[in-house]
Amino acid sequence: MGEQKRKYSESFYNFISLAGATLAGVIFCIIILLVLLDAVSPSETPYFGILTYIILPVFLIIGLLIIPIGALREQRRRHRGLKAQRLPKVDLNNPQHMRSVIFFVTATCILALFTSLGTYRAFEFTESVTFCGQVCHDVMKPEFVAYQNSPHARVSCVDCHVGHGAEWYVRSKLSGAYQVYSVLFNKFERPIATPIRNLRPARETCEKCHWPEKFYGKKQVNRIHFLEDEENTRWAYNLLLRVGGGTGQDQAKESSIHWHINNNVEYIATDMRRQEIPWVRSIDKNGNVKEFRTVGMEDFNPDGNEIRRMDCIDCHNRPAHIYQYPQFTINSAMELGRISIDLPEIKLKAMEILAAIEADTTTEQGMTRIKEEIYSFYEEDYPEVFEENQLEIEAAIEGLQTIFQNNYFPEMKANWRAYPNNIGHISAPGCYRCHDGQHVSENDEIISNDCNICHLIIEQGNGEFTQTDLNGLEFKHPEDIDEEWKEEGCYSCHAE
Ligand code: HEC
Ligand code: HEC
Ligand code: HEC
Ligand code: HEC
Ligand code: HEC
Ligand code: HEC
Repeated sequence: MGEQKRKYSESFYNFISLAGATLAGVIFCIIILLVLLDAVSPSETPYFGILTYIILPVFLIIGLLIIPIGALREQRRRHRGLKAQRLPKVDLNNPQHMRSVIFFVTATCILALFTSLGTYRAFEFTESVTFCGQVCHDVMKPEFVAYQNSPHARVSCVDCHVGHGAEWYVRSKLSGAYQVYSVLFNKFERPIATPIRNLRPARETCEKCHWPEKFYGKKQVNRIHFLEDEENTRWAYNLLLRVGGGTGQDQAKESSIHWHINNNVEYIATDMRRQEIPWVRSIDKNGNVKEFRTVGMEDFNPDGNEIRRMDCIDCHNRPAHIYQYPQFTINSAMELGRISIDLPEIKLKAMEILAAIEADTTTEQGMTRIKEEIYSFYEEDYPEVFEENQLEIEAAIEGLQTIFQNNYFPEMKANWRAYPNNIGHISAPGCYRCHDGQHVSENDEIISNDCNICHLIIEQGNGEFTQTDLNGLEFKHPEDIDEEWKEEGCYSCHAE
């Protein structure tokens, strides 16, 4: 260099251009390293690519742009007659220079390596369940706890809430920024309002794992119940749910639940929670259109209302955050032996306590109430049981406290009532939002509420009375309530 003829235009030899070139060089190294890391890393993170292929390249370009900017400045300096900038001379034959160069190059490489590893880890972290579920601990506690007890406990939050691709990454970061603000300034709602309006369409997230073509056949579920009598009488339903209707089969013959995603069902809800649905339109694959309106709202005019096309979330609105209703949790704990069925009236008492707890304001209050009420109940009403079954009573308290901690979050006002589950029709209207027999078309067709279109009851009863029939039985209610179960939806009594 120096006295030799310079290869590039003189004006490129200045500090600004040199800095630009260094920046571009380092960023380039980081990009290469990240691409390599991404290739060997087993955990695939949806928006990692954005950093590598969009954000960092922007800095690379900035670095490259700085080079001509430096050159222009240098040119102007010279026009004004100023002395040309001299870059330091490096002579690799000079041991001191050699050492400096080696030091500089090594330091840059190490810096680049650690920066890439650091960024990579940082990205993995913002994608992680820990970040989403635990960083704003109190706010996300209900979702996080319920999620850990759900079938999706191993699916990460971002797989459902963001999914793949740049557009939703950016959208989620924008709404995420607002969420951070609302947490910092205590502006968030309790409970967090659902349905989430800007949730990514379910078909772009759920269907990455669940293939609609694979919905076929029937799914057997066995539901165990204990009645609220002294003996906690056991009662069971064995059901075949018709979960078919996927795109992969000809389902002309059999009535099937996933018919709704293979055909087009649209609806209008008049409330925020999408629980009241006065207008429904179905367009089947052959193009037949039917419009249904709730009895008494025949004049309902769909114009000007938001029409929503049904997707997974309209039924599976609680795939990961399931705040279970008390019957279900207590029955399961009793069946598993966590709450002993030898304790008289334990089902009734447990139901009463959980119902009362919904009004409590802190988790601590609830925990204490469970303990005190169960103790005093047996002490007063069943002194002998209290004496002899201390262990069972303690286990029952613990069992009920676990149920409470996993499903009730007083601080965030989150529980089964605040988040009605749309699958089924017992703890909430669910399917009966449309299938209540009250949605009628102009040709007097109804959206069916025939018990057998969705499932077959193949077994029901307690030990003494049991019916079995693989072709389906007529439902028998465990308590005698006449024909009332035919007249009103189960939820009208059971969600009381
Ligand atoms: C299997 C998919 C799935 C996973 C995994 C998942 N969610 Fe959700 N989440 C949903 C759906 C669907 C909704 C929307 C419910 C609605 O709109 O009614 C939701 C709603 C929420 C809500 C709104 C409040 C509520 O309870 O409905 C929060 C907050 C939330 N999720 C946080 C999280 C966090 C934190 C994680 C990880 C620990 C997570 N989610 C994992 C599917 C998922
Ligand atoms: C990353 C993959 C993944 C995504 C995304 C995902 N799921 Fe799942 N889902 C699973 C796995 C795995 C299971 C099986 C869990 C098991 O059997 O223990 C499952 C189970 C289920 C079940 C059966 C639950 C049961 O009680 O047996 C339903 C229903 C379901 N998912 C619905 C959804 C919906 C709705 C969405 C979108 C909001 C979704 N899933 C998104 C992986 C996923
Ligand atoms: C009309 C309401 C409805 C819609 C829409 C719907 N599902 Fe379902 N799905 C159900 C019901 C009901 C069941 C059975 C309930 C149960 O397992 O407790 C079920 C069961 C499932 C299961 C478990 C199947 C098995 O064999 O165990 C998966 C997985 C599932 N749904 C995924 C989806 C996905 C993904 C979508 C969207 C593409 C979707 N569902 C749309 C109502 C619906
Ligand atoms: C938004 C309204 C709506 C909701 C909510 C809804 N459905 Fe439907 N469903 C319909 C309509 C509309 C039809 C078609 C009726 C017709 O064309 O006669 C239908 C049809 C069906 C069929 C018969 C499909 C066939 O093969 O002929 C089944 C089974 C079914 N639904 C199950 C369910 C279940 C289970 C749920 C709750 C998890 C549910 N539906 C929730 C609107 C709804
Ligand atoms: C539109 C669909 C649909 C109709 C109509 C329907 N059910 Fe269901 N039912 C369901 C679904 C879905 C579930 C499963 C919910 C779950 O997985 O928790 C269910 C669950 C049940 C259960 C089991 C509940 C438990 O916890 O033991 C019984 C019993 C039942 N239904 C009875 C009936 C009777 C009786 C009728 C007629 C009056 C009826 N159903 C009509 C969809 C329907
Ligand atoms: C008129 C109100 C009413 C209607 C409607 C009703 N039930 Fe019940 N149900 C009761 C009462 C009261 C009990 C008794 C509580 C007990 O002993 O556990 C009960 C108990 C039960 C139990 C056992 C208790 C438990 O906690 O597990 C089941 C299961 C049940 N009902 C299912 C249904 C189903 C399914 C429907 C709809 C097809 C329905 N009920 C409709 C009032 C009703």
